[in-house]
Amino acid sequence: MTSEKQRVFVTRRLPQEILDRLNEHFDVDLWDSDLPPDAGNLRERVANADGIFCLLTDKIDADLLSAVPSLRVVSNMAVGTDNIDIVAATARGIPVGNTPGVLTETTADFAFALIMATARRIVDGDKYIRTGQWKTWGPNVLLGRDLFGATLGIVGFGAIGQAVARRAQGFSMRVIYTRRSPVPPPPGVDATSVSLVQLLQESDFISLHVPLTDETRQMIGSREMSMMKDTSILVNTARGGIVDQTALVDALKKGRPAMAALDVTAVEPIDSQDDLLTLSNVVITPHIASASVVTRLLMAHMAVDNLVAGLSGVPLPNCANPYVY
Ligand code: DGY
Repeated sequence: MTSEKQRVFVTRRLPQEILDRLNEHFDVDLWDSDLPPDAGNLRERVANADGIFCLLTDKIDADLLSAVPSLRVVSNMAVGTDNIDIVAATARGIPVGNTPGVLTETTADFAFALIMATARRIVDGDKYIRTGQWKTWGPNVLLGRDLFGATLGIVGFGAIGQAVARRAQGFSMRVIYTRRSPVPPPPGVDATSVSLVQLLQESDFISLHVPLTDETRQMIGSREMSMMKDTSILVNTARGGIVDQTALVDALKKGRPAMAALDVTAVEPIDSQDDLLTLSNVVITPHIASASVVTRLLMAHMAVDNLVAGLSGVPLPNCANPYVY
């Protein structure tokens, strides 16, 4: 007997309550693994699907889209959609769903966690104890940098950048920011719009919050890093591709910036032999800025909402290409 439900391919094992919702609405084909399908498996399993529930690790390119003429909705469980060829999807009339808003505060918390972890050498301190180096309290042991009074430069002043600015205010930091289309800071936030050059030159901490696009790819390269202070700390919770990673390794060896804290890397996962991992002035985490229990569940529910709407012929509540309609 054939199912009358529309067919949806889900590219990863998900919490049961999310699968229950998907099963209620759709004929679900689940990639039942904690690792993503490779390109061949993705192509094979998505064939004839009406919708796809995908993650930022799944490359949904023009080739794949043209191989699946039945596809009517792409729902990405992420706010970023750089894994999807939005132009090709739009040309095929396919709305692309994403999950903005719910991860804003969680991601801003994490950007701040990285700022504090590097400024106050939390990871170094942990290693220091585990490797038996803690002999006594010492006036010169593991000295870090103060946040209060320091300048935080925020590159990209959208929702997440602004949420980071609000946190910085509580730490008595001076906040400066750049944004492609200038906006005033939100009410209650004391922040000043500056050029990227001024931001790079004056910031003690530089936190990146732009999406990865053709315009932002490698926007922080050797030229930009050479303008940073030799005491500055570069924090990236956005996308690895925004920073020229080869240039970063070189710059960190020269000490400008002094340190980097990265939740994202050019290639994910980063190769265990990557030069970046040989440097002691880098803290790296595995793309977990939005990884709180509540937020990840909210993101998954939003991705289901987008699929349900799209496959019922209703505009997606959160659509990355609203002009498709
Ligand atoms: C997103 O949603 O784009 C985030 O990078 C996920 O952590």
